[in-house]
Parts: sequence; C-alpha cells; structure tokens
Amino acid sequence: MSETVGDQGQADLGGLAPDQAPNPDAQLQVDTSDDNDSALGLDTSSTTSASLTSSIQNYKYENGRRYHAYREGTYPLPNDEPEQDRQDLLHHIFRLILDGKLLRAPLRHAPQRVLDVGTGTGIWAMDFADEFPESIVIGTDLSPIQPTWVPPNCKFLIDDAESEWLYKPEEAFDYIHWRGLGGSIADWPKYYRQVWNSLPPGGWCEAQEYEAWLRSDDDTINMTGKSLLQWCELVDEASMKFGKKVNIAGLQKQHMIDAGFVDVREDMYKVPVGTWPKDPKLKEMGLFEREHMLAAVEPFTLALLTRVLGWSVESTQVLMANVRNEFRDKKNHVYSYFHFVYGRKPEAPT
Ligand SMILES: C[S@@+](CC[C@H](N)C(=O)[O-])C[C@H]1O[C@@H](n2cnc3c(N)ncnc32)[C@H](O)[C@@H]1O
Repeated sequence: MSETVGDQGQADLGGLAPDQAPNPDAQLQVDTSDDNDSALGLDTSSTTSASLTSSIQNYKYENGRRYHAYREGTYPLPNDEPEQDRQDLLHHIFRLILDGKLLRAPLRHAPQRVLDVGTGTGIWAMDFADEFPESIVIGTDLSPIQPTWVPPNCKFLIDDAESEWLYKPEEAFDYIHWRGLGGSIADWPKYYRQVWNSLPPGGWCEAQEYEAWLRSDDDTINMTGKSLLQWCELVDEASMKFGKKVNIAGLQKQHMIDAGFVDVREDMYKVPVGTWPKDPKLKEMGLFEREHMLAAVEPFTLALLTRVLGWSVESTQVLMANVRNEFRDKKNHVYSYFHFVYGRKPEAPT
C-alpha cells in the first residue's frame, strides 16, 4: 500500500478527511430545558476544577500564583499546579473536538521525529509518543513542569522558542506541532521561519489554537452582563501592550501561507462554554469548557492587568469575579472558536 501524503482516499493519522471538518458558521442549537446540565447524567453542582539547573526552578511568586524562572517575565501565565490542571483539562477538550485524535494534518504514516513547541505539562507529547511508538517526540518549554516518568520515545527540553533554533539538519523534524501559544510569541513570522528551517521538504506543521474571544449567535453575551466582552478586550489590549498578543488563533493561517507552506487548511470548531447546546456531544464539551474557562480567568488576567495595565489586585479580582459569574449564567449561550491550521513544506523549494 502506498503511503503518500495528500491521498485523500485513505484515512490519515488525523482520522478525519478535510471535508469532514465542521461548517464554522453553523448555528448551534440551544437546549431549552431548564436544567441543561442534567441531560449528561452528571452531578455538575460543583464549579471547582478542581537535567535541570536551579535557575530554571527558581520560580517567581506573585499575588498567589507561581511563574516561570527561565527567561523570567517573558510569559505572563503561571506554571503552578492549578495552571497545569487547566492545561490537562484543555487537552481533554481538544481530544473531544477531534473525536480522540491528536492531530488534523493528513500524515499517512507515523512521523520519525516530532516537535511539540511550548509543551506545557507534556500531555500531548506523551499521548503522541504512546500512540506512535515508532516516533521520537521532543517537547520544549520555558518551564520544567513535565513528568519524569515518560514514554521511552518522548523527551523534554527547556528551551525558549523565541531564541534561535539550533537543530542540525540531521535533527530535522517531520512534523512540528504547537498548541495554546497565544501570549507566548512576539515575532510570529520569525517563529514560522524557524519552523520552516527545522522541517525537511514534505514535512508538516500544525497550530492548534483557541480564540481568546467569546461570541454568542443570539446576543445573550450582551444580555446577561457586560463583563465577558470587556474582559476579552482588556486581555487583548494588555497582551498587545506586553508585546505578545493572546488572541492569535485567527492569524495562524496567514502566517503559515506567508512563510511559504502549501496545502494550508484551517478547520474551525465552535466550542460552547456551558451545557446550553442541545447536541449531547457539544453539551459534554461545554461542561468541560465551562470548567476550563473558570480556571482560565485568573491565569489570563492577573499578571497582564496588574503588570501591564497597572490595575490594582482588588479591581482585577472584581472583574474576574464578574466574568466567572457570567460564565456560570446558564442563560448565556457563549462559545469560542478553536482553530486547527496545518500546512506542508513543499518538496521543491519555492
Ligand atoms: C497555554 S500553555 C500550553 C501547553 C501545551 N501546549 C498544551 O496545549 O497543553 C503554553 C505553554 O507555552 C510555554 N511557553 C511560553 N512561551 C514560550 C517560549 N517562548 N518558548 C517555549 N515555551 C514557551 C509556557 O511555559 C506554557 O507551558
């Protein structure tokens, strides 16, 4: 059996043919019953989500959260246990979206060498290594928060993706993946040049990003309060002032095209916040996404608003409490778009 990239007749590792991607404009149907959580059969009454050098581990503490030490101050989100739990919860949501798959790029066989940039807790890298034991998976991050016991074909390195990438030609990757890097990268064109230079001709890259922006098709976002959109605007403003925009999901496709990648595709999925959709799969996703968003409010807000916009901790706490209340309001039919953008380095240099 030939195993060529781009043969749409066969199932790829992403498992979904490109034409199986959803229509991103389709309106999600609302479950009009009073208790839209209970259809899940779950008790949802609780809203709780519940070779290193010392300089890398010399974490910084501020307003009750812990931040990275390597290249201190360059990334505004914390790296403590609640943040690690948030990342792992979001991993579950990403897998729910893709029906359990880890990628969308139409790879026909397991790539030999895989890079996961900004790997966080390393959960995607470890799952990939488990699923494809013939691949070597390398995860890089500013924070050494990955476990020690990992699959034998998975390795983690502390590295700043904004520094020059020093992989030798024989260390090139066949597939480079990143997820949730909003707020992490100042110079995206440079980042894409480094991705390009670290892939052989025919290699694939994939960005999996969620919009740091909330929407509703029935305008309930404006009827239940004003904090959600105010929050989106403030976080976006602060992140741009900081120099690392958070809301970058919608920009990845053009960056990828501008860098020279071909066969670039963008699949967008509406992910509800809350159990308001009628569709059972979306309802389950919305349950997890509501927990995730409740856990995401502080990490995305606290450092950016206090450090960059000069807000007091007290005013920031008030805003965050209002945002959480609006997330819990079941009348709010809010969602955000998750983008899966993937492209191939052409065989012949362009
Ligand atoms: C929101 S988390 C996403 C983690 C992981 N990709 C996931 O989806 O589970 C972003 C991660 O990127 C890392 N990061 C931020 N800036 C970075 C940089 N310049 N170089 C490497 N990692 C970076 C952070 O330390 C954090 O672990």
